[in-house]
Amino acid sequence: MKAESLKSKESKYAEASINALFQPQQPTQSFVAPVRDAAIAPENLFEVFIEINGRCYFNDSESSNYIPCDNKEEMRAHRMHQVDKVLWGGLQSSPVTEELAFGARVLDVGCGMGVWATNTGSDHPLSTVIGIDNAPAFPKHSLPNVAFLKCNVLDGLPFPDNTFNFVRQAYLVICIDWQRWNDKVLKELVRVTKPGGYIEIMDIDAEIMQPGPIGRMFEKFRHSHVEASGIKTVSSAAMVKAFSELKDEVVVEKFEQKIIPYGHWAGKLGEAALKNYIGLLESMAVFYCPLFNITEAEYKQMIVDYAEE
Ligand SMILES: C[S@@+](CC[C@H](N)C(=O)[O-])C[C@H]1O[C@@H](n2cnc3c(N)ncnc32)[C@H](O)[C@@H]1O
Repeated sequence: MKAESLKSKESKYAEASINALFQPQQPTQSFVAPVRDAAIAPENLFEVFIEINGRCYFNDSESSNYIPCDNKEEMRAHRMHQVDKVLWGGLQSSPVTEELAFGARVLDVGCGMGVWATNTGSDHPLSTVIGIDNAPAFPKHSLPNVAFLKCNVLDGLPFPDNTFNFVRQAYLVICIDWQRWNDKVLKELVRVTKPGGYIEIMDIDAEIMQPGPIGRMFEKFRHSHVEASGIKTVSSAAMVKAFSELKDEVVVEKFEQKIIPYGHWAGKLGEAALKNYIGLLESMAVFYCPLFNITEAEYKQMIVDYAEE
């Protein structure tokens, strides 16, 4: 019975049928076309946030952010934060714990909904934490030592040179073209960091290892979607290389990689990571369904099947 259902699943999601059914319809359309279309619609002229298919997005026709900013996403960000914390053994892996305890200036670039900044500020009340993001979906109430600022990092960081003891950037690289990051963001991160301070880049090489048939399909979607965007994403190793090329200003102390275990086989951590990935897949429906010409119901079913794969 088990073998049979596996077999039927495999044939449903076989490579040939994927290729036939799910070819991108408009390969050159914008990465975030549904959000951009809504952002330029006259009825949304005065809206700060826009709703598409029941999810809430920041209204910005220039943005390349594809992550919603609503309660569902906030819960996902909290869960992801917990997964990161367990995986990395704390809120950060740079040796700054003592500095944070005695009072440091901290910057979180592309802070999203401010989960990391809030937790860091809460754990280290003598430190000052600033989170910046171009989508101001910040927490309504923040701690006295935590502040948020709407700012596009590509326009530069609005801080003087040598301001921060610790600068962090997490999961940003998918939203910013590699060349623009290399030309603009990298230098800004270095400029605002004090001599002797730390910069920590936490990012994901989103490749799923040993995917099943449906996992392979989602990988296909992701690759085609990124390709359609024209954004050149980059591996963490390339980011480290970019830092090491600034050898007069920066010393690369550590490059660490961890594999995120997805699935029930990996206990509570694997379950949380899987739930998180599924949350991300759900929020991608708005882009993948029109791009790959599939209905929302088909897409939802794929996610259900994927969770069992
Ligand atoms: C994938 S989310 C990661 C959020 C957060 N760092 C985390 O770990 O949960 C990427 C964030 O980068 C922000 N972002 C993208 N491009 C940006 C830019 N040019 N300037 C500032 N923030 C940007 C997006 O708005 C989004 O909140």
